[in-house]
Amino acid sequence: MQTQSRHHGKTKESQSPQGSSGKSEFRGNSAAEQAILDSLRSREFNRYAPTAGLLQTTRAIAEYLSCDLPYQLSSDDVFITSGCTQAIDVPVSLLVRPGANILLPRPGFPVYELSTAFRQVEVRHYDLLPEEPLWKRIHLPSFGEETVKRLGIVVIADEVYGHLAFVANPFVFGSIVPVLTLGLLSKRRIIPGWRLGWLVTNDPCGTFRKPKVVERMNKYFDILGGPASFIQAAVPSILEQTDEVFFKKTINILRHTSDICCKEIKDIPCISRPHKPQGSMVMIVQ
Ligand SMILES: Cc1ncc(COP(=O)(O)O)c(C=O)c1O
Repeated sequence: MQTQSRHHGKTKESQSPQGSSGKSEFRGNSAAEQAILDSLRSREFNRYAPTAGLLQTTRAIAEYLSCDLPYQLSSDDVFITSGCTQAIDVPVSLLVRPGANILLPRPGFPVYELSTAFRQVEVRHYDLLPEEPLWKRIHLPSFGEETVKRLGIVVIADEVYGHLAFVANPFVFGSIVPVLTLGLLSKRRIIPGWRLGWLVTNDPCGTFRKPKVVERMNKYFDILGGPASFIQAAVPSILEQTDEVFFKKTINILRHTSDICCKEIKDIPCISRPHKPQGSMVMIVQ
């Protein structure tokens, strides 16, 4: 995409790390559009929301995510962010302390590298093997409670492609290891650019409920400010009203386009080993 450089008036190539910033191939999500219109026209949300999010929004997300969990999340566990990009930056900023490091998959979503480099957090990598799903390799419950506490281990579970799998894959939830679940409205509902994400403290052992941690999180969210109130207010309806037919169509389009991509890519000499994705919108090649 061509953009105008803010300071020098020069043009430069710029690609959003979130993906295409061009026109979407998908048809609109009318349930989401209607929810936004209703929220805006009600004029009830021409005001600031609490910085961690409107209560109706955090409550709706807690309920939505609890369907996949063996326990119930509360609205206090949910923090609303401006897209999932901001939800990535929150734990990186808050967890920074001398000697801390973060283990990142390679290849991975570039914002993790940007955010950690910016905060000067040491990064260690593990290579993703297309033949081997990650969840088979990292066995969270095998960490003992003592080890988790001593090393201060926290798992960041990026679930932006949740429910966009063509095959059944388990949802990662916290047991002993505290998990920060990151998510967003946009991928599954095909509304990129609406910038509504979330960060959910998902830890039955209550590490993130300690008063000092809660205070730090709340202060940080006071700096961030959060997404527009009327978009937040539409979230409960968007979660409730986007129907199964819409989701199935999306999955079918993704499966179909990934099949085409896999087939066509074989004819490009410099690219090898396209690995058929099991979901989402990306594909690993060499
Ligand atoms: C794995 C992953 N995490 C996070 C994000 C960021 O989400 P958002 O577009 O809401 O900033 C994306 C976007 O493509 C992603 O692919």
